[in-house]
Amino acid sequence: MRHLLSAADLDLATTTAVLDLAEEMGQLQQRPVKKLPALRGRTVVNLFFEDSTRTRSSFELAGKWLSADVINVSAKGSSVSKGESLRDTVLTIDAMGVDALVIRHSASGAPLQASQWARAKVVNAGDGTHEHPTQALLDAYTMRRHLRSLGGDGELAGRTVVIVGDLTHSRVVRSNVLLLQTLGAKVVLVAPATLMPSGVASWPVNTSNDLDAVLPEADIVMMLRVQSERMSGGYFPTPREYTVGYGLTRNRLGLLRPEAAICHPGPMNRGLEISADAADSASSLILDQVAAGVAVRMSVLYHLLGGDDEREGDPR
Ligand code: NCD
Repeated sequence: MRHLLSAADLDLATTTAVLDLAEEMGQLQQRPVKKLPALRGRTVVNLFFEDSTRTRSSFELAGKWLSADVINVSAKGSSVSKGESLRDTVLTIDAMGVDALVIRHSASGAPLQASQWARAKVVNAGDGTHEHPTQALLDAYTMRRHLRSLGGDGELAGRTVVIVGDLTHSRVVRSNVLLLQTLGAKVVLVAPATLMPSGVASWPVNTSNDLDAVLPEADIVMMLRVQSERMSGGYFPTPREYTVGYGLTRNRLGLLRPEAAICHPGPMNRGLEISADAADSASSLILDQVAAGVAVRMSVLYHLLGGDDEREGDPR
């Protein structure tokens, strides 16, 4: 793997290889001593221009547990706050000789641009409203394990994943639709018309405005955060009305099949898109997703940096 910029970079064989290695990495999480020498001498820089709790810390743990040196650079506290451009920031860090740049940025396409400037390998850790491929991988990993816990083979092919909420502003949904298509799952997107992405008609999904009608079909229901920080106008009348139409409320839990599971990439707006009853229920996989984040990112870093290949020649 040269970079991981989009879930579209992952074909079925690569996805399966990443998820299978993540299973092995996940076993390390259970051990008292969490260290493998696999990436000793490699350097990973987390370059986060947007806030993050779980993505940044899980990339950091993933790198450290594989013995890579990991440093974190965030916009606040770096020369970005002095007006340095993305290109100059990327070139500066790249010039130090690092092996991988894990980038989160509010501009869609920023990691792709960085990959054209840098010699290091680039991982997209969320770019604007575009993509978040490692989130889709950890979601697939979590769903696979859930299906296996029910006694199946864990295959997502033919399963129904219902994704609900602020789809317009969600990079998580875009990466999930791509990866779930690769894995053969059926995706149903549910949102009010105002939060349905433009162009969704050409996506390989079914859509609905009626959550109650769709919930009984779900093997997995994935609730997405209402991303108020990306909204410029009113996308729904009031938070209360949003919850009534599209929240996973206590009453709606009764519409789910007993073996259906609930996912949310976090951070959650409890009481808005998801009730505490749903988030904390026995069907919730939300903390499993967090745990999966470390295992999957270990696998991704290993796939990118585990070989003997050197940093690429100067792409400029
Ligand atoms: C998501 C993100 O930042 O794209 N969170 C995450 O990475 N777990 C979703 C969100 O912010 O709502």
